[in-house]
Amino acid sequence: MVKDLDINKIVKQHIEMEQFFTGFFLKCRSDTLETQNQEATMAVTEKTTELEKIAGEVHECRKCELGSLRTNTVPGEGNPNARIMFIGEAPGADEDAQGQPFVGRAGQLLDKIIGACGLKRSDVFICNILKCRPPDNRDPRAEEIISCLPYLQRQIEIIDPEIIVALGAHAARTLLNTTKPIGQLRGQFHEYYAGIGRPPVKLMATYHTAYLLRNYSPENRRRVWEDMKKVLAELGLPVPK
Ligand code: URA
Repeated sequence: MVKDLDINKIVKQHIEMEQFFTGFFLKCRSDTLETQNQEATMAVTEKTTELEKIAGEVHECRKCELGSLRTNTVPGEGNPNARIMFIGEAPGADEDAQGQPFVGRAGQLLDKIIGACGLKRSDVFICNILKCRPPDNRDPRAEEIISCLPYLQRQIEIIDPEIIVALGAHAARTLLNTTKPIGQLRGQFHEYYAGIGRPPVKLMATYHTAYLLRNYSPENRRRVWEDMKKVLAELGLPVPK
């Protein structure tokens, strides 16, 4: 006697075979893929528009004195759908001159780190806590951070990255609302509070590339590489050999 269970199994197999040969599954799958792609494309377009809107607001911004001292604003750039956002402190002289983040020596080292991770600059999003250069590269002031932070918070909300890499003490402390030293913060995942009703974003703190250039010891380089390997592991990405 054929058991109920077997009948169910046979019927299911039969339906699956019918569906397979009539192309039902294939049609279904490609419909789903097309829809997904359309949604993804729309999302990227919308994200790009929103990010451009923020860049426009930053361009007009005069909320702090840096607005009258800058040559160019540096809102940030990269993939609107990035899985990783690198966040530094503030633009330096090269960035101020070109209007792009991390294009000086510290930026070239960041490019190397991104490359060592098997990624391209265009895969990630790169920006700073401050969108304008503080004179003589002095540290950001509290009132400047308070004025500028909403732009970054909105960028994070739009991009919705899986991981934020905070480069250096200023970025890590600001985003984690702490005064702990970077030596204590780096090397482990923290949570960036992304707002009410939103899941927190994993944040890896590591040394700033400018610090690394000034203290280019094998030990410091190893530490940054260890931090980045944790990021890759968390994203399920292979560590390039
Ligand atoms: N240092 C930063 O923190 N940001 C830049 O864009 C360049 C150097």
